[in-house]
Amino acid sequence: MIDSNGNKSLISMKAVSKSFSNAGHHNTVLDSLDLEVFEGDVLCLIGSSGSGKSTCLRTMNALETIDSGRIEVCGIDFATSNMPIHKIRQKTAMVFQRFELFPHLTALENVAIGPRLVAKLSKKEAEAEAEVLLKRVGLESQAHKYPSQLSGGQQQRVSIARALANKPKVLLCDEPTSALDPELVHEVTDILQQLAKEGMTMVIVTHEMRFARNVATECIFLEGGKIVERAKPAAFFDQPQHIRLKNFLERLS
Ligand SMILES: Nc1ncnc2c1ncn2[C@@H]1O[C@H](COP(=O)(O)OP(=O)(O)O)[C@@H](O)[C@H]1O
Ligand SMILES: [Mg+2]
Repeated sequence: MIDSNGNKSLISMKAVSKSFSNAGHHNTVLDSLDLEVFEGDVLCLIGSSGSGKSTCLRTMNALETIDSGRIEVCGIDFATSNMPIHKIRQKTAMVFQRFELFPHLTALENVAIGPRLVAKLSKKEAEAEAEVLLKRVGLESQAHKYPSQLSGGQQQRVSIARALANKPKVLLCDEPTSALDPELVHEVTDILQQLAKEGMTMVIVTHEMRFARNVATECIFLEGGKIVERAKPAAFFDQPQHIRLKNFLERLS
């Protein structure tokens, strides 16, 4: 599918439903959700805790299965394609709230390991690429440190470099700044903002409303397993249409 500007659809979710069962209790987390991500989109997923933001993001790279509906990544359907899931998954990359770096590898090795295993680059080639990526996130001088020797902001920047190393079409970020001390948040949002400027397609779950307003091409409010509102940031924050979004934004201010 192509949007009005001629951009390709990179992720397409159609009527996706997902529920969890806990001790007999049935919890519908995604309720026939439709969501399209086009090339160049920077979508911020916003909603209360438990509204299904992480689940939604995780279904986009099949970290979470779905009960019904269809998900295509770059036109490839997870359910029906002959391509192995790990191959489809490589079209996206995930940045997690808690960094999830390998503790026994240096920053450089954490970034280089993907290209070594996936693209089968030699150690030397992979590390040369990793150096370029670490430079891009401003960490060239920290390349030989282990995660435990880095601040949270630095660890998250390494994890962004690692995500970029496999050259994903879409970067998926789940609350990338939530585990950071407030004064370190900007280190990570600055990098994501730079990537957005360079045209990287991203879906970002965030509670940083100022960041969402600055970086998003569109903001999406998720509640009750559905998209309640999807709008450009100015309209989303200044003229919310849905009462639930209005209430949500009022509670924040
Ligand atoms: N693996 C799981 N097993 C059972 N329930 C889950 C699981 N993952 C998420 N949930 C439930 O699904 C709902 C949505 O969770 P989540 O997607 O993490 O929301 P958010 O990221 O918006 O806070 C919550 O009620 C949560 O408890
Ligand atoms: Mg979450």
